[in-house]
Amino acid sequence: MIGRLNHVGVAVPSIEAAKATYRDLYGVSDADITETKDMPTQGVRVAFVNVPNSQIELIEPLGETSPIIKFLEKNPQGGQHHVCFEVADIHVAKAEMAARGATVLGEPRIGAHGTLVIFVHPKNSNGVLIELMETPKGH
Ligand code: CO
Repeated sequence: MIGRLNHVGVAVPSIEAAKATYRDLYGVSDADITETKDMPTQGVRVAFVNVPNSQIELIEPLGETSPIIKFLEKNPQGGQHHVCFEVADIHVAKAEMAARGATVLGEPRIGAHGTLVIFVHPKNSNGVLIELMETPKGH
């Protein structure tokens, strides 16, 4: 059973330009936009835009083998890439998803919030790539 919506992932060609959109068009304060973080092992750079009940994760390719390069080739202006729900235990969630016949992409790995994540193939979820993220301890 999935928990709260943690964030919506949006792939963008430029994080700095996307931050400006949320700041200038939607009025998000700089205090609610995080620093951009390089995640070289994932092949992405990420930043978060905080809104009162959730976050938007901005994702920019890092390096020529970035997993989002193909997505951006199809969506040159960027686009909604995934939706992330929290789960209590990532290993339990992975086993349950597999038992229900879903295609889990890869092994649990550390995501942008520092907790373990897995991805479930879009074909299992009406075309939407789903990230499951272990709820940070203390939340
Ligand atoms: Co994400």
